[in-house]
Amino acid sequence: MKEDFPLLKSNVVYLDSAATSQKPSCVIDSISNYYKSINANPHRGAYNLSVQATSAYDNAHEVVKEFINASSSKEIIFTKNATESLNLIAYSYGLDNLSEGDEVVLTIMEHHSDLVPWQEICKKNKAILKYMYVNENYEISDSELEKITSKTKIIGITHVSNVSGTINDVKKIISVAHKHNAKVVVDASQSIAHMKVDVQDMDADFLVFSSHKMYGPMGIGVLYGKEELLKNMTPFLMGGDMIEYVYEQDTSYAELPQRFEAGTQNVEGAVGLVEAINYINKIGYDKIREHERELLKYSRSKLEELDFLELYYPKNIDNHSSVISFNIKGVHPHDASSILDTMNICVRSGNHCAQPFLRSLGIDSTLRMSLAIYNDKSDIDHLVDALIKVNKMFEKYKES
Ligand code: ALA
Repeated sequence: MKEDFPLLKSNVVYLDSAATSQKPSCVIDSISNYYKSINANPHRGAYNLSVQATSAYDNAHEVVKEFINASSSKEIIFTKNATESLNLIAYSYGLDNLSEGDEVVLTIMEHHSDLVPWQEICKKNKAILKYMYVNENYEISDSELEKITSKTKIIGITHVSNVSGTINDVKKIISVAHKHNAKVVVDASQSIAHMKVDVQDMDADFLVFSSHKMYGPMGIGVLYGKEELLKNMTPFLMGGDMIEYVYEQDTSYAELPQRFEAGTQNVEGAVGLVEAINYINKIGYDKIREHERELLKYSRSKLEELDFLELYYPKNIDNHSSVISFNIKGVHPHDASSILDTMNICVRSGNHCAQPFLRSLGIDSTLRMSLAIYNDKSDIDHLVDALIKVNKMFEKYKES
């Protein structure tokens, strides 16, 4: 599938798709064609071009609705990215629904974007923030779910960790949460490119993801929310297009989803996202999963042969998605990553916007490789050869 991705025609070994995926030609072309043929401001003009831009933008809500099996396109809100979607939930739902002493429970794996907004809201409303920690296998044990009680009002869970690659059993956590009448926010940013996400099957109350991690363009994200929740929430951003009538002292708001989509929207992003969804659908999640699982198995076995590595992922491959974090013992990940870059290998290094998670593991940074459909075994072989070289370079310093 490398053929479909123009950037990969150079000899780069791209292993950072958890940060952002590369884009296939069909996505790049759809954006260029949009600007060449139908660009205008949607929902603003009665002329044909604006009507076409409106219909492209509205159609994108329908396509996303089908993609994640929402019950209505009113439940699909476009934002800038998953981070904005999570802030929207915290400010529009959390602020109005948390009282003093109420609890918000997050997994310790949450990305800062599903953690820092809740810290702010909890401080403002005097609510309590609690965490479910991982066991030695980087998984949330059932005993941690006991932290969900009748005091819990909101739960935040990442579907897949962007550090350990753990696949959380979101269905189980949601069913426990609902027994206590808590609402659940699912961060699907790291799962959406790799496995079918079905919001009705999960029974998620809110779910978010970014287009740019699933072969789509940057600058557009999705917020799914159950209609009964969204329609009672205060809009997050105010301005044009999210209103019905505006008077000097008061305003009535537009219907969903527009009431959460203030200002001129990212139509090129919506068009590109639709094309990315078409691309994923054409390949099919079964095929994606099969290819990536094979590659994950291969990566794990190759990395496990290197005794100079420390590895941070679940033992059971069934609970592991396409992210592998590791460290070369005694070598800072930023040093290793810079040297890998001289060999044309792209991996992320650092805390991966998950400082509390890394701290809970007793580390402060890792190297991280992450897979997508365009990777193959030769990418892994290049990485493994390079890691051996990096380790050799540092051996003499380790001894002294
Ligand atoms: N959230 C992205 C990552 O994990 C940027 O790399």
